[in-house]
Amino acid sequence: MSRTNDVTSIFLAAGQDPDLINLAGGLPEPSVWPVAELADLAAEVVRDHPGETLGYGPIPGLPALRDLIAARFSTPETQLSRDNVLITTAGMQALELTGKVLLEPGGVIAAQSPAYLGALDAWIPHEPRYRPMKPGSNDYDPFAALDGAQFGYTVPNFSNPSGRLVTLAERRELVAAAHATGTWLIEDDPYGVLYYDGTPLPRMLHLSGAENPGPYDGPIIYMGSLSKELTPGLRIGWVIAAPEMIAAMAAAKQGSDMCTAGLSQMLALRAFQRRIPERILPKMLETYRARRDALCDAMRDHLADHLDWQVPAGGMFVWATARDARLDTDALLPRALEHGVCISPSSVFDPEGRDRRSLRINFTLNAPDKLQEGARRLARAIRALLEETP
Ligand SMILES: Cc1ncc(COP(=O)(O)O)c(C=O)c1O
Repeated sequence: MSRTNDVTSIFLAAGQDPDLINLAGGLPEPSVWPVAELADLAAEVVRDHPGETLGYGPIPGLPALRDLIAARFSTPETQLSRDNVLITTAGMQALELTGKVLLEPGGVIAAQSPAYLGALDAWIPHEPRYRPMKPGSNDYDPFAALDGAQFGYTVPNFSNPSGRLVTLAERRELVAAAHATGTWLIEDDPYGVLYYDGTPLPRMLHLSGAENPGPYDGPIIYMGSLSKELTPGLRIGWVIAAPEMIAAMAAAKQGSDMCTAGLSQMLALRAFQRRIPERILPKMLETYRARRDALCDAMRDHLADHLDWQVPAGGMFVWATARDARLDTDALLPRALEHGVCISPSSVFDPEGRDRRSLRINFTLNAPDKLQEGARRLARAIRALLEETP
């Protein structure tokens, strides 16, 4: 754990400066949170359910919440029961527990590349080796990547950091590879509701369930979270997987936190029952879609000479790649901070730390005028860096 990441420390510290435009994090817009309704629900559940909210609870989660998640994600072909569901202390714990359960020291993870920084951090103690999977690239072969790996890791909906949507054909191929190789495959899905364009693609969990209809016991380890759908502070997530995997992860969870906070679980249960995530979704999508468009318009105005990117159809990030090979995005970070804007350089999403050609830009936290100013400042920082680079 002594292997700290300097770049991460810089941008976390920079987030404290009020004059800085922070395009580095992956934070939601707080005005979409249903604060008054959640406050009333919190008072109600503590008063009416002191045992569940204030006492220790069962390690795998409150039975009623596990049942609700099982029903919510069941389809005619993929039948889920409580035994398929583990409630976790948000998505980060689900990632950490998978490492505890599956990773032997130095084992191989076949990970979609570039990869979510938090997942890389969660698995550092096991010192894994990585086999990159780049759907869409010429040498992409999910069978070869998953064969002999301890597990595969993917974020099919608007990956963090790349914003990429894994296509239906690629999802089918990944599921087929997991079934053929017998390798567990994580489908990490915090952005699954954040589609701004198009119709949501089927989850790999359901594509896998359709191969053997009935009670689910396939190789997909699906991870959901309330962090983007409702609020991150509740720290509620869930894993849906074969019962044997859920039992192993529950055993590992005992040594992590004994149980996820009962108050948060009861709030999540009531929020789902009252359809709060569904009610706040339209405003969230409208806000984030407008911000995505504002950022991409501003990038076209100010950054098109320096960066290439694709407009993401959902999620929270634009991934941009430098046109000029001299533009090292680790070197750009301190220049950007001097110009009052913060971005995430690609090196932090590469287990080897070698990719210095791209950057991740978040569009959900800032209003359109701030995004425009952020793009302007970033363009100035890039020009300054290129002028001083031979
Ligand atoms: C791909 C991915 N997985 C998991 C997480 C973890 O989120 P949380 O622990 O808040 O559920 C994040 C957070 O940004 C993420 O982007």
